Amino acid sequence: MVLIKKVILFIFSTWRRTQLLALRVLAKLHIISTPYHPLPWVNLRIKKNREKSIFDRWQCIEEQIQESRSSVLDVGCNVGYYSISLARKGHYVVGVEGGWASVAIATCARDVLGVHNALFHRLDLTPDNIDSLPSFDYVIMLAVFHHWCRSYGKEPGITMLKTLCRKVKKGIIFETGQPDTASRKYVDALPDMGDDVLEWLLNFFTAEGFNSAESMGYFQSRHLIVARR
Ligand SMILES: C[S@@+](CC[C@H](N)C(=O)[O-])C[C@H]1O[C@@H](n2cnc3c(N)ncnc32)[C@H](O)[C@@H]1O
Repeated sequence: MVLIKKVILFIFSTWRRTQLLALRVLAKLHIISTPYHPLPWVNLRIKKNREKSIFDRWQCIEEQIQESRSSVLDVGCNVGYYSISLARKGHYVVGVEGGWASVAIATCARDVLGVHNALFHRLDLTPDNIDSLPSFDYVIMLAVFHHWCRSYGKEPGITMLKTLCRKVKKGIIFETGQPDTASRKYVDALPDMGDDVLEWLLNFFTAEGFNSAESMGYFQSRHLIVARR
């Protein structure tokens, strides 16, 4: 029985490795979208400078989620670098992502690594379904808000973010393309954040009932914010 179990596990893991390899080849050939994250544990790498900024952000996120076994929602998780990193630390993580290929890569990498406490799901968050999300101790939402504003409009984007804030029990870690630094197509889509984008962002989260909101740094022309209950 034990031997049969081992054989089945081996077949499953080999199947996942093969799927992961096939997805990476498709991404290299630009048939599916290129991963935004590295997954160093399975040797998936991206450009050095992008990798560094993702690792730097991870250091900030890691410092903010000190409690063990928190529940974390990773909005627009892409191929899951932050989700898998958090799960490896023992947190229960749900990664929600609109791109099927990114979800497939994240899921295969998770299975190859034998990480059991991360769940990835393919879901386009919209103004209609955002309220159906459950509450989490922490939400991380990096580089997604400007996509919402572009897809659904400024006001619906802001309403979605406000709805998401209501799902946060302890803290939210947030970053967005900014009107002062984003490319034209996003500048036009984003709300006017005035001359001081950082102040606008901090005021937004305090107005949403967070007790504190502060910047953790400035990465690739964007403020990384943490707001806590
Ligand atoms: C620029 S990437 C950021 C990835 C990751 N959050 C980070 O900052 O490293 C934006 C991701 O959000 C996803 N996304 C954008 N709009 C979305 C939506 N409405 N619902 C779910 N995922 C979305 C995209 O597919 C993409 O993977």
